[in-house]
Amino acid sequence: MSTISRRQFLATAALSLGTMGLVACGGASSGDTGTDTAADAAAEYTLVNEGKLTCISNLYFPPFESMDETTGEPVGFDIDVSKALAEHMGLEVNWLPSQAFDSLVPTIKAGGTADIAIAGMTITDARKAEVDMSDPYVDSNQSVVTKVGSEDTLDTLNAEGKKIAVQAGTTGADWATENLPNATIVPLDDIISAMNGVLTGSYDGLVTDLPVAGYQIKNSFTDLQILEPIPTGEQYGIAVSKDNPGLTAAINQALADMEADGTMAAIETEWFGAEV
Ligand code: ARG
Repeated sequence: MSTISRRQFLATAALSLGTMGLVACGGASSGDTGTDTAADAAAEYTLVNEGKLTCISNLYFPPFESMDETTGEPVGFDIDVSKALAEHMGLEVNWLPSQAFDSLVPTIKAGGTADIAIAGMTITDARKAEVDMSDPYVDSNQSVVTKVGSEDTLDTLNAEGKKIAVQAGTTGADWATENLPNATIVPLDDIISAMNGVLTGSYDGLVTDLPVAGYQIKNSFTDLQILEPIPTGEQYGIAVSKDNPGLTAAINQALADMEADGTMAAIETEWFGAEV
């Protein structure tokens, strides 16, 4: 890339994208003052919709992402992060409808639908083989959740006949499969159904990210409890196509700027009451 000019690059990119893609130039206009903004850091990337950061997620994962009950609009920590990212990059944010969590990485990999998946998505080697992951922006862990009054322990849950709900394609599903091999692991579309199922007795427990379990138990599912926090040391990142390394660089720069200017701390306080 260093051997061609920015104009040549854009021309080549435009050609190779054909009718599908629109080429953006990071929001940095030629009259840019040269301050060190995210837009300048990676001037060369493509966007599926010009001037917009188009985002996908699975919107059943509060407080990271969910749908506002009255408006149906996406709300949550990741939505606020996406808005701040777009702002730092000189773009508008554009949210597409919720989709299955395990379809997010394939959608980003295929290209043409969305620029980023932002979904409380743990950075894993398997995902990094398919897409680029941004620098980490949240630390997380897993948890095993049961109903208040349940006498199950991790040992008794790992037994034939016990049913453990998980969200399909998640690191919680992987943890359950590896660590509760004698139980039946039931993959569901989302973790809210899993929580309802534990409440009604369809499942003996569920495995999900600790911050989501904690938030939901505090705010909605007061009859559930965290049986065990599981210190997996996960970190969330934003998924970007491997064909768009300039966008990953611009996202990383914007994330760093948001750490430095207090935006990230404000979003953490908003959703978790303190910096996380
Ligand atoms: N952190 C977990 C993972 O990456 C769960 C993410 C689920 N996210 C969601 N938006 N439903 O596998």
